[in-house]
Amino acid sequence: MKQKCKMRCYLHAFLLCMLFTFFSLLYVFSQLASTLEDRDEWDLREQGVADKSSHDKGHFLRKRPGSTGLRHHGEELDRERSVKVVDEWSHLAVVACGPRQEETLTMLKSALLFSKKPLHFYIFAEDELHDSFRSAMDSWPQMVHMKFKFTIFPITFPKENAKEWKKLFKPCASQRLFLPLILKNVDSLLYVDTDILFLQPVEDIWALLSHFNSSHLAAMAPEHEEPRIGWYNRFARHPFYGRTGVNSGVMLMNMTRLRENFFKNDMTAVPLRWEEMLMPLLQKYKLNITWGDQDLLNIIFHHNPESLYVFPCQWNYRPDHCIYGSNCQQAEQEGVFILHGNRGVFHDDKQPVFRAVYEAIQKYQFGENMEKSLLQPLETSLQTTTHTYCGRSSHLFTKRLKQSIMSVQH
Ligand SMILES: *[C@@H]1O[C@H](CO)[C@@H](O)[C@H](O)[C@H]1NC(C)=O
Ligand SMILES: *[C@@H]1O[C@H](CO)[C@@H](O)[C@H](O)[C@H]1NC(C)=O
Ligand SMILES: *[C@@H]1O[C@H](CO)[C@@H](O)[C@H](O)[C@H]1NC(C)=O
Repeated sequence: MKQKCKMRCYLHAFLLCMLFTFFSLLYVFSQLASTLEDRDEWDLREQGVADKSSHDKGHFLRKRPGSTGLRHHGEELDRERSVKVVDEWSHLAVVACGPRQEETLTMLKSALLFSKKPLHFYIFAEDELHDSFRSAMDSWPQMVHMKFKFTIFPITFPKENAKEWKKLFKPCASQRLFLPLILKNVDSLLYVDTDILFLQPVEDIWALLSHFNSSHLAAMAPEHEEPRIGWYNRFARHPFYGRTGVNSGVMLMNMTRLRENFFKNDMTAVPLRWEEMLMPLLQKYKLNITWGDQDLLNIIFHHNPESLYVFPCQWNYRPDHCIYGSNCQQAEQEGVFILHGNRGVFHDDKQPVFRAVYEAIQKYQFGENMEKSLLQPLETSLQTTTHTYCGRSSHLFTKRLKQSIMSVQH
């Protein structure tokens, strides 16, 4: 009898012990889960936004006609094809704040006009602009919607230093530096300023990613071709890339590599990750930088020159390339590929050629004949610009554009 009681007591104690352990473990897990949740807040926020606003029409993933008769390997071929097709997307990001909406929509329109491959737009904008972006793009014809999807994001900064980042340069300009951290699942991205016009298919600049060697992480064009009128080499009070610096208005990034790389820098002896480097860099140079995040990129690639692929000036053609005479050799030969109307030249009278191209694309309506409704009016208005240096090079502005139009119309 006594023995039995003892056994029962042991059993009781043992069960109690188990229960206690179970609840302790439960508590520990719940704590762990909540800290992980905190850490992933950025991720989750992004996912939420993406789910709400993504207009993924999915056309490209659908079975294409023409696969009947291949019954045998049908499924395998389909899978292969859809993987391949997914790879063909070009991912294009823009940060649009304040009164830049019309300009941004014109840029996106130019991207759609000549591209034959599908595009994913990542639009970062202040909350109050989201609805009008969405409704403007929804109003584009169905035919055009087959070619793209878009996701709209709020402007976000790391919590600790949000204020400081927002006031750097223009309110939203430094958002671009955080794209590799916000778009964690995106491998590569073409970032462009809002004052950009594509005169050539987006997939052609996207293809430069495959020219990267194993140390390249990003690609940009030089800030100047002509050091005598260069800004960085004459005025900068911080390190910059190469002879004249780089311009960040058109920037191709392999973000997988940006996230994985360790960067040499002039703050610590140890190389730092992208996200570790940004704040110390801003702190060190904030009193010396003039052009905001472009200056920070110049400092970063000054210390890591092997990581930058420099593409020629016709991929980021600005007034500086013609204002005192033509100095972009590659554009002389092949025409302008991407036009960058910086310093407001799409909207004022300082460089009428830039404005003429902008207005021709802005006025063109999807579905109209591009030769009649885009090229011809543009050539007419270019004839009135020959009193300027850039006007005398106006044939460079239409050279590639003509080819792009021919290749989509015929
Ligand atoms: C900022 O500019 C000043 C004046 O040119 C220079 O003395 C100083 O070293 C610069 N600061 C940094 C961090 O380079
Ligand atoms: C970007 O770099 C990663 C890692 O090297 C590579 O796997 C990926 O294919 C690259 N992306 C493109 C578009 O080249
Ligand atoms: C990649 O090219 C850059 C020049 O753009 C060069 O400095 C670097 O050494 C190259 N990297 C490799 C691994 O060849």
